[in-house]
Amino acid sequence: MDSINTRIKMKDKEYSIFVGSSLLNELANFIKENHNGKKVAIIIGENTNKLHGNKLKAELKELNPLFIPVHSGESSKSREIKEKIEDKLLDNKFGRDSLIIAVGGGVIGDLAGFTASTFNRGIPIIHVPTTMLAMVDSSIGGKTGINTKHGKNLIGTTYQPNAVFDDMDFLETLPDEEFRNGLAEVIKMSIIMDKDFFEFLESNNKKILSRDKKILEQVIKKNIELKKDVVEKDPFEMNLRQILNFGHTFGHALEAYNSYKIRHGFGVAQGIIVEARISVIVNNLKKDEEERIINMLKSFGFPTSIDRNVDTSKILELMKSDKKSRGNRPRFVLIDEIGKTKSKENNFSFEVEAEVVAKAVEECKN
Ligand SMILES: NC(=O)c1ccc[n+]([C@@H]2O[C@H](COP(=O)([O-])OP(=O)(O)OC[C@H]3O[C@@H](n4cnc5c(N)ncnc54)[C@H](O)[C@@H]3O)[C@@H](O)[C@H]2O)c1
Ligand SMILES: [Zn+2]
Repeated sequence: MDSINTRIKMKDKEYSIFVGSSLLNELANFIKENHNGKKVAIIIGENTNKLHGNKLKAELKELNPLFIPVHSGESSKSREIKEKIEDKLLDNKFGRDSLIIAVGGGVIGDLAGFTASTFNRGIPIIHVPTTMLAMVDSSIGGKTGINTKHGKNLIGTTYQPNAVFDDMDFLETLPDEEFRNGLAEVIKMSIIMDKDFFEFLESNNKKILSRDKKILEQVIKKNIELKKDVVEKDPFEMNLRQILNFGHTFGHALEAYNSYKIRHGFGVAQGIIVEARISVIVNNLKKDEEERIINMLKSFGFPTSIDRNVDTSKILELMKSDKKSRGNRPRFVLIDEIGKTKSKENNFSFEVEAEVVAKAVEECKN
C-alpha cells in the first residue's frame, strides 16, 4: 500500500496516522497484527454507515465486528448515547480484551473516544475519521467528550488512540459545506504556522476544491504534522496550544450568536477575518498580508466580510464568556505575518481592548 504513515508521539504513547486512499484493507491487516483475537466494535455514524457500511463490512468481515450505528448529529454526544453504547457492548460480552473502531466525523470520534477511555477503565481505539474536520483536527490530540445542558464538551478525557486511518475515499461523499468546514481549520493552520503551506494552498486551490486525492493527502499530512508539532510540545494545553485558537475567539462568539446554526468552520473563517484585522490594528500585520488572507478565504468560498446586521455589542458580550477568556476578558492570538504568531514570555494569546475589537468588527462588515 502506498499510504503515507506519520508517527505521532504523545507524552505517554506513540501511534501511527495513515493517510491515503483505499485503506480499509490496510486497517484490517493492522488489526490482525496488533489486536489479534480481540472483540471488535465499530461505532459508526448513521450517514457514514449508509454510504460506506457495506464496504466496511466486506473489508473487515474476518474480524466479525459488532456494528453500533449512532444517529448523526451533535446531540449524539450525550451521556444517554454513551450509556446505550456501553450497555450494547456489555450485552454482547465485550470486556477488557476489546477494540473500538470509530468511523465518522468529530461527533463520533469524541463520543467513541470517551466511551473507549472509560470502558473497563480504558480499551484501545482506532479512529477512522470520515470528515475533513475530523481528519485535520478532532482526531489529533486525544481530546474526547460529550455535551451537557451546561455546555459543549464539559465532560470528557484526554485519551490517545492506537492508530488513525485517514482514507481519502470517505471524502468523496462529503457534502460541500462539510468539506469546507474542515478546510477553514487547514487555512487557519497555515496562517499561524507555515507560510509555505499557505502558498501551497493558494496555488492548489482548484485541485483541493475538486478533491484531488493526491493533493488532499498532502494537505492532510501537512496539517497533521503542524498540529502534531503543537500538541507534542504542549500536551497539557499550558501555552503553545493557544495558537490553535486563532480565529476562534470571534468565531465561537459568532457561532453562539447564531445559536450554533452555522458550521464551526464558517465561524472560524469569519473569525480569521476579524482577528487578522485586529492584528493589523494592534500588531502591525501588513495590509497586503491581510488581503492575501481574505483572498485565500474567498478562493475557498468563504465570506470575505461580516454580515452588517451582526450586533457587535452582543458579540463582545459573548466573547467574554468564552471558556478561553480569563477574568471575563477575551484573548486573541495575534499574527506578526502569515505563518507566524506573536509570543511573549511563553504567552501566545493577548488581551485586546474592547474598543479595538469593536472597531475591527465594524471595519470588517460589508
Ligand atoms: N476532539 C477534538 O479535539 C475536537 C476538535 C474539533 C472539533 N471537535 C468536535 O467535532 C465535532 C464536529 O465534527 P464534524 O465537523 O466532523 O461533524 P459531524 O461529526 O457532525 O459530521 C458532519 C456531518 O457529516 C456527515 N458525514 C460524516 N462523514 C461523512 C462522509 N464521509 N460522507 C458524507 N457524510 C458524512 C455526518 O453524518 C454529519 O451529518 C463537534 O462535536 C466538535 O466539538 C472535536
Ligand atoms: Zn476549531
